[in-house]
Amino acid sequence: MYCKKIKLQDFRNIENEEIEFSDGINVIYGENAQGKTNILEGIYLFARGKSFRAFKDKELVRFDKGCAYAIMDFEKNGISKSQMTLGVEIPKYQNKRFYRNKVKVSKTSEIIGEFRSVLFCPSHLGIIKDSPSVRRRFLDVAISQLRPIYIKMMNQYNHVVESRNAILKMDPKERAGFVDMLEVYSSELAYLCADIAIMREEYIKKLDSWVKVFFEEMTRGKEKPKITYENNAEEKDFENRELLKNKYFELLKNNLEREYKYGATLYGIHKDDLKIELNGKDARFYSSQGQQRSLALAMKMAEGEISREYSGEYPVFLFDDVLSELDDTRKQFILSSIDKRQVIITACDKSGFDKTKVANFIEIKNGQRIENYKFEKENIEENPQEEDYEKNIEENIEDDEGDLDNIGSIDDED
Ligand SMILES: Nc1ncnc2c1ncn2[C@@H]1O[C@H](COP(=O)(O)OP(=O)(O)O)[C@@H](O)[C@H]1O
Ligand SMILES: [Mg+2]
Repeated sequence: MYCKKIKLQDFRNIENEEIEFSDGINVIYGENAQGKTNILEGIYLFARGKSFRAFKDKELVRFDKGCAYAIMDFEKNGISKSQMTLGVEIPKYQNKRFYRNKVKVSKTSEIIGEFRSVLFCPSHLGIIKDSPSVRRRFLDVAISQLRPIYIKMMNQYNHVVESRNAILKMDPKERAGFVDMLEVYSSELAYLCADIAIMREEYIKKLDSWVKVFFEEMTRGKEKPKITYENNAEEKDFENRELLKNKYFELLKNNLEREYKYGATLYGIHKDDLKIELNGKDARFYSSQGQQRSLALAMKMAEGEISREYSGEYPVFLFDDVLSELDDTRKQFILSSIDKRQVIITACDKSGFDKTKVANFIEIKNGQRIENYKFEKENIEENPQEEDYEKNIEENIEDDEGDLDNIGSIDDED
C-alpha cells in the first residue's frame, strides 16, 4: 500500500496543503506544534475511520471554519492492484462523511479496510504497562482493519452490554419484569463473545509468532517473548464455537447475583487482556523500560506483517515522533527493517536520518509545507475535478451513524 498524496483543507492548523509522498521513507520535520502530527492524523483517518487523538470530530475543523476536508490518493499493489481516492468532509456541527472514489459511502465502516495503516506513537510505548483496555484497543484497531465485520460485531456487542447493564442496575422489584429479557441478552452476548474471541485468538497467535521473530532479531535470540490471550474461557473451549458460546452463556447465567451487586456485566470479551511475558515472566512487572519498548516496537512491526499476510501487501507505517523516544539500536532496527515499505515519520529535525535512505523530506511550519525535497511545489497541479468534488461534498450533508465511535468505548474497572 502506498499513500501518494493527501490534500488537507481547514484541517486542524492546515489551511490548504497538498503533500506528496514517495514510496519508501518519508520524513516530515519541523518544530513543535507546527502541524506534523496533524498530517498523520489526516492519513490515519482513512485507516480507522476516526482520529487517533481527537475526542470529537469537530476538533479537527480549523478554528473559525465550518468544515474540514481531507482527500487522499493511494495505490494498492496487493492481491488486486488499484488506485483509489478516499475523501472525508467533517462539518463542525454534523457527522463526517466519507467518499470512495468521489462517491459518498453510506457508513463509515464501508471504507474501513480499503486503506490500511499501522500507527506507532509515543503513547503506544506504554502498551505493556498500561491498563487492559489499551491492549484491547490495540487488538480492536488492528483486527478491524483486516476484518471489517469485526467492527459490526463490536458495536453490536457494546450495544447489548449497555442494554444488559441497564437491567442489572435496576432495583430488584423493577428487575423482576425483565428476567426473560436479561436471558435473551445473555444469549446474544454469548454468541458475540464466541465469534469475537475466536477472531482475537487467531490474531494473537499470529502476533505471538511475529513478535518472536522480531525479538529474535532485535536481541539476537537472547530474550524470549510470549504473548497469549487472557479471557474468561479455557483453551479447550476454543475447540469450537458452540463450546465457547456455552462457556460464556454459563458464566453469564450463573453469576447474576454478583452482577446485580455491581450493576454491570462482569464476563465477556470486554474483560479480555493480552498476557505478555518475557523469558517466562510477566513483562508488566519484571521487564525494564527498554525491554518494554522493544516489545511495543515488535508488536507494531508484527501488526504490519499480519496485515501483509491478509492482503498480500504491507500497510503504510506512520511513526509519530516515536524514533526520538527510542535508543539508537532500536531506531536502526526500525529503519533497516522497514525497507521496501512506505513509512511516514515525523521528527523535530532531519538530522539523524541517513540521507541516502530517505526518499522524501517534508518540512512543515505553521501548518504549511515549506519544503518537499522530492516534489517541488510547481510540479503539483491543481486537479480541476477536485473543485467539483468539493462542491458535491457541500451539497451532500446527511446524517451518518458514525458506527465506529463506540469501538472500545465500554470501560471496565481495570
Ligand atoms: N482545530 C484546530 N484549528 C487550528 N489549529 C489547530 C487545531 N487543532 C490543533 N491546532 C494547532 O495545531 C498545532 C499542533 O499540531 P501538531 O500536528 O500536533 O504539531 P506537531 O508539529 O508538534 O506534531 C498547534 O499549534 C495547535 O494549536
Ligand atoms: Mg506531533
